[in-house]
Amino acid sequence: MSIFKNLLLIVAYLSLSACSNIERSRDLGNADVSGVTLVKQVCSECHGQNGNSTSPQFPKLAGQQIGYLQSQLMKFKDHSRSDRLAPEFMYGMSHGLTVKQIGEISEFLAQQQLINEKAQVMPDDYFGKLIYLNGMVDRGIPACQNCHGTMAQGQNDFPRLAGQHKQYLVKQLHVFHANIGRPDTPMQFVTQSLTEKEIDQVATYLSRL
Ligand code: HEC
Ligand code: HEC
Repeated sequence: MSIFKNLLLIVAYLSLSACSNIERSRDLGNADVSGVTLVKQVCSECHGQNGNSTSPQFPKLAGQQIGYLQSQLMKFKDHSRSDRLAPEFMYGMSHGLTVKQIGEISEFLAQQQLINEKAQVMPDDYFGKLIYLNGMVDRGIPACQNCHGTMAQGQNDFPRLAGQHKQYLVKQLHVFHANIGRPDTPMQFVTQSLTEKEIDQVATYLSRL
């Protein structure tokens, strides 16, 4: 074989291996790695396979609204979302992502099927469901479904809540209530006069949808 042919083979081999490396890369600072690869190689460690996290500490992302995923990743990246675990976990994760990667990640996660092992609405969910569907007009609490949808599936920037871990939902309702770390959303107003018990009831209902 001529030297020229050998060289061609080596070049072909190198570009192939670079290609397969980039398909398995965990490098959050490399703009050439696709968002889908990053979800599978990095994000899945906490958020689970295809966004179905099993630990309640980590929110499920499967089937989440694309617009909401994008907006939250931008908010972690520019540090405007600063509830307690955001700086600890998500600032580093989002720091080097490009707008294109954020788009690819959000599109992929939005397309995944949400798995909810706890999906079963119980008779004691009656009050949680009532709050969700009707709010409490006399106390200025709007119906959640007005923004999050009848089945809590969300739309655009309004997140899906159905099937989310209860512990995470309760935690976020407290974050909005105390107005620490997630500013400039309607949720501070919404949660203003919700009691502990009501927060628990509505979160339980949503986690079982
Ligand atoms: C080491 C664990 C860990 C890894 C890895 C991780 N996350 Fe997170 N993520 C978290 C935690 C914890 C939260 C919840 C933060 C909070 O309570 O505010 C979160 C929250 C989020 C949220 C907000 C969800 C919501 O419902 O508001 C999005 C979106 C997100 N992560 C996307 C990603 C993406 C994309 C990646 C990969 C590039 C990633 N995460 C990697 C731990 C992680
Ligand atoms: C006027 C519209 C509106 C109404 C009504 C509303 N929400 Fe929201 N909600 C939002 C928006 C917008 C966000 C996203 C905020 C952000 O971008 O950080 C949100 C976020 C949330 C989150 C955080 C989800 C996550 O993944 O982190 C929870 C939980 C929530 N809402 C529960 C409720 C409940 C329960 C009610 C009814 C008591 C309700 N919302 C009523 C607009 C609304």
